[in-house]
Amino acid sequence: MSRITYVNGRYLRHRQAGVHVEDRGYQFADGVYEVIAVREGRILDLEPHLDRLDRSLKSLQIAAPMARRPLEVVVREMVCRNHVKTGIVYMQVTRGVARRAHAFPKDTKPAVVVTARSLAPPSEAAVRDGVKVISVPDIRWGRCDIKSIALLPNVLARQEATAAGVYEAWLVDAAGDVTEGSSSNAWIVDQKGNLVTRNLGTALLGGVTRAALLEACRDAGVLVVEHAFSRDEALAAREAMVTSTTAFVLPVVAIDGQKVGQGKDAGRPGPVYARIRRLYEARVAAALAGTPMRPLQKPAKVA
Ligand code: PDD
Repeated sequence: MSRITYVNGRYLRHRQAGVHVEDRGYQFADGVYEVIAVREGRILDLEPHLDRLDRSLKSLQIAAPMARRPLEVVVREMVCRNHVKTGIVYMQVTRGVARRAHAFPKDTKPAVVVTARSLAPPSEAAVRDGVKVISVPDIRWGRCDIKSIALLPNVLARQEATAAGVYEAWLVDAAGDVTEGSSSNAWIVDQKGNLVTRNLGTALLGGVTRAALLEACRDAGVLVVEHAFSRDEALAAREAMVTSTTAFVLPVVAIDGQKVGQGKDAGRPGPVYARIRRLYEARVAAALAGTPMRPLQKPAKVA
């Protein structure tokens, strides 16, 4: 079965799909993206992802490449055509193709690419035993709330984590506070037992998973405090976690080589994680209880 990729209105064979060399995404990272989870062939949280895409586009004054409904159709088509059961949809919108010049070009149409592929969920070992992180300086720009494709600092941070043999890098700002992970949001259970994740602002991305878990916690009466926490507080925390579309929610059991938590349970996932994980699983189960997905339109011919 060959993979299919959507590029500017056409469904193409993945190997042949490409964009113009003067696409501003390629030359200036002048674009935004979304990563959306697929479980059991269903797309999770499509609306909040498309809402965030709209916000990112507006922040950069890039026009929406198409209306919401047709874009939803493309996303669903990509999942069906690529037979994705568990995986991700990647969606990228750039300012489009124009002769290279820094200022916005006039009358350029935004370019859109959508891919879908299978991706295994986090391993059972990661879910059960947890993952490790390192901390690195946050060297990113001042608008990390925009889901920009300019990800070089994130790439470098994740590479450091990979080289260190750990799952994620937590980014630490000039004040010594953790902003978020290279591609996830960061949470701790502080020494007083408060579940804490950093408040939204321009320093971090408002994660869809973060928002979903905040809602689930609110519904379940689990108090979450949204404020900055320092690397030192994270090192002294009872528990730590990461959330993202691809990680879902995973326990963090070591930070910079130091076990999270105290006493005999140090370095082991804690009770708050167990509760949050159950809330997350219940939320996904509810989402999957809907009707199975079918292609919404007669498949168009592959170019
Ligand atoms: N990254 N923070 C950053 C910097 C991210 O890149 C991501 C997601 C998140 C979590 O957001 P969400 O819960 O909406 O996935 C937080 C995606 C998965 C990626 O770049 O692959």
